[in-house]
Amino acid sequence: MEDITTTEEWAALVKHRGEVEHRHLRELFAADPARGTELTVQAGDLYLDYAKHRVTRQTLDLLVALAERAGLRAAIDAMYAGEHVNTSEDRPALHIALRLPPSADLVVDGRDVVAEVHQALDRMGELTDRIQAGELPGATGRPVRNVVNIGIGGSDLGPLMAYVALADYHQPGVRCRFVSNLDPTDLQDAVAGLDPAETLFVVSSKTFTTIETLRNAESARRWLEAALGTGPEVAARHFAGVSANTDRVRGFGIEPELTFPTFEWVGGRYSFDSAIGLALMAGIGRESFAGLLAGLHTMDEHFRTAPFAANMPVLQGLLGVWCANFLGAQTHAVLPYSSRLRRFPAYLQQLTMESTGKRVRRDGSPVTTTTGEIYWGEPGTNGQHAFYQLLHQGTWPVPADFIGFAEPSGGAAGSHGVGGGHGVDGGGVDGGGVDGGDYDLFLANLLAQTAVLAFGRTAEEVAAEGSDPAVVPHRVMPGNQPTSTILAPRLTPATLGQLVALYEHTVFVKGVVWGVNCFDQWGVELGKAVATQIAPLLGAEPPEVPPSLDSSTTELVRWYRTTLGRTERPDHLGRAD
Ligand code: F6P
Repeated sequence: MEDITTTEEWAALVKHRGEVEHRHLRELFAADPARGTELTVQAGDLYLDYAKHRVTRQTLDLLVALAERAGLRAAIDAMYAGEHVNTSEDRPALHIALRLPPSADLVVDGRDVVAEVHQALDRMGELTDRIQAGELPGATGRPVRNVVNIGIGGSDLGPLMAYVALADYHQPGVRCRFVSNLDPTDLQDAVAGLDPAETLFVVSSKTFTTIETLRNAESARRWLEAALGTGPEVAARHFAGVSANTDRVRGFGIEPELTFPTFEWVGGRYSFDSAIGLALMAGIGRESFAGLLAGLHTMDEHFRTAPFAANMPVLQGLLGVWCANFLGAQTHAVLPYSSRLRRFPAYLQQLTMESTGKRVRRDGSPVTTTTGEIYWGEPGTNGQHAFYQLLHQGTWPVPADFIGFAEPSGGAAGSHGVGGGHGVDGGGVDGGGVDGGDYDLFLANLLAQTAVLAFGRTAEEVAAEGSDPAVVPHRVMPGNQPTSTILAPRLTPATLGQLVALYEHTVFVKGVVWGVNCFDQWGVELGKAVATQIAPLLGAEPPEVPPSLDSSTTELVRWYRTTLGRTERPDHLGRAD
């Protein structure tokens, strides 16, 4: 495949960088006062301001030309048509099909995917309605009120993020919790205070082979059985399963009635709006889930149809390429000014880094550019009092997305507390008697940060304030940090869906330019295999440590065993007290 860095479009950007990289955003704004109104785009409910990027209008033209040269239009069309764009796994990547309306028409590999999606959604909706009506009996006949999702990676991060984000839409009487980690405390914390007789576990795993999820499901079964006995009705009444391999779900003892499909053609990190979101739907209700799907579809349609120069995911993707490949950025901060989006950066870490953290291209040849920025972030204003110092005065360029809403979340009619549990604590969303606080000041902080990051403060400005000359250099703010500002009227299911699809497609745009497959994740496999080889070495009756194991890992194994008294302490580790 063509090496994008050898094209004339890339060369034009390299040359152009020489003209732009030493120009400060102060200068760019002075030279082009209309950029604040014109370097913006609206898509659905989302308003993107990208004027504070270190670009001129020419940069944008050159980036769009690069996208065209990389074949972005054909790549979008191929993805939407269900072609096998996930080449190394020979599959489509059809997350856009999860939110097509029932009237849409999409047959892929001989299957009517729209019909399959809506059959699953209807069944999820029926189960959700039964839980909310108190009409899903557990083994004792008492109704299910607690829904605990057991999954990891894409089978956890998306549903959890959305459940936390949409606390205003939590349904009365249903409490959701999320378990992901193999660390036993995760399950312990999630079930704390729950009555087993009223608890349904949703085992969410596309493959139904993920060791963390299967072990946690077995632990959950033991927790249930300790209270409810060991009969088959425990698995039958207290577990639902979501997988692309329904035979394996059956093998666990889960009833077909409580078994829901996800699909081979959707990647785990793109799947929270499939049945992998069953616990989410149970928690927010089918109408809010439908709102989420509608929002996702709105952005899908925008991405598919808008011209590149006015296409929000295309622009965000190309600005990411510009920052990473031409301005030397290694990381990308996501800074939501909403506590409800506190799980959004973690969710995006999988979406972005599993998708573009690649060193070979689709044809197996080495990448020719840096790929896959490191995504990270925390909600503002908390981050301002933690790591923003580095953004303001550190030495790295750190592009950042600031996300905010005109209206605060919280206090919506009909909203309810969500109880504790992994990642969902503190959801007293009726406001608990707390007033709205000073939301204007909160939003003013978002706006202030992007302005200060862009324009900074010069030594002359600091000195003019009468600062001690010795302190002047410490107070200078260089500015020139590139930021995008993404605003929406309010955090609703629809706006959350639009945000998620914005990032899904932004990742895709970068992947196309870099030539990588955004839909595989071979890099996670080896660690899983080695963990299963090491696990027996830690147990009570271990086999001989194989000579092939490196000396560092061998010593770490020995440390663990000696600390637990499973092996004699070797002399060089000294005596235990
Ligand atoms: O190990 C990585 C991964 O394969 C992710 O891509 C995926 O989201 C996660 O594991 C969970 O996979 P599954 O849904 O099959 O349990």
